[in-house]
Amino acid sequence: MKITVIGAGHVGATAAHRIAEQRLARTVILLDIVEGIPQGKALDMYESGPVGLFDTMVRGTNDYRDTADSDIVVITAGLARKPGMSREDLLMKNATIVKDVTDQVMQHSKNPMIIMVSNPLDIMTYVGYVRSKLPKEKIIGMAGVLDTARFRSFIAEELNVSMQDINAFVLGGHGDSMVPVVKYTNVAGIPLTDLMTPETIDRLVERTRTGGAEIVNYLKNGSAYYAPAASTVEMIDAIVNDRKRILPCSTLLEGQYGINNTFIGAPIKLGRNGVEEVLEINLDVHELDALRRSAAIVDENCNLLSDLLA
Ligand code: NAI
Ligand code: 2OP
Repeated sequence: MKITVIGAGHVGATAAHRIAEQRLARTVILLDIVEGIPQGKALDMYESGPVGLFDTMVRGTNDYRDTADSDIVVITAGLARKPGMSREDLLMKNATIVKDVTDQVMQHSKNPMIIMVSNPLDIMTYVGYVRSKLPKEKIIGMAGVLDTARFRSFIAEELNVSMQDINAFVLGGHGDSMVPVVKYTNVAGIPLTDLMTPETIDRLVERTRTGGAEIVNYLKNGSAYYAPAASTVEMIDAIVNDRKRILPCSTLLEGQYGINNTFIGAPIKLGRNGVEEVLEINLDVHELDALRRSAAIVDENCNLLSDLLA
């Protein structure tokens, strides 16, 4: 297994280190446009092997030839959000970067699986899909796992219980229009609605929606990376170990939920073949409406990129 991480910044480097520590690949390649950064970070990670107890080869590079024949490519290249900046503000700049990165990845790897992380997430996943011409099963966006992790951690904190017992689903686009589905949220099987007042649930839902901005406001000069990297590596683990996990990820919908030809967060079965199934769960009319509105926002933004992607 060879895994390449494009972008040796906060998310990329943290993800690369977790991949090595969890021994998910024999070789991890960390690539960035800035000279020295991927080489230095990768060497530092590699040197942690004897004490971290892994023997994964970790190499940094600026040269796409070193990414040749990757099985999985994680794309984190791009600019991160700054305070007051929405994910959509990043649209044009990151679309240009992701287009270029995808083209170069595909020149050197014939049939990789791509996990997109760059923001705005659902739109960048679409950019990667259009440019890579990969089958839809092989290009997947990471956001729902992160948004769900945030929701789960807030619920655990509120109830003072283990995060492990909390099951939840956050669907829709990775942005203010995301759709936490309270109906499918439970604590060790007990519906959340039995454990909290509607006001408390609303507060936690709102905190989840603004979870990315909450971190940006603290960091001032960048965005979250520990939980995003952990979420990305959970997806890689599902693929590498063919776990057939049911995870919310950005995937191409083709009629499911009444949404067509849009990348948006939905529950998928994730295994060795990538997206092995898109699950169509029962949503009430409000949730369905929210999911469709979220998809419409993604569509509008994708349409802005038609010249760039032509
Ligand atoms: P960062 O600024 O720390 O790292 C980005 C890296 O990309 C930098 O090292 C930069 O040199 C590199 N880069 C820029 N252009 C490049 C190119 N053309 N080729 C190769 N490398 C290039 O940012 P961070 O925090 O790692 O975030 C990365 C991206 O992930 C951002 O777009 C951010 O918004 C997004 N993100 C998405 C999340 C999600 O849930 N999907 C969660 C967290 C971050
Ligand atoms: C987050 O949700 C910035 O999208 C990133 O933290």
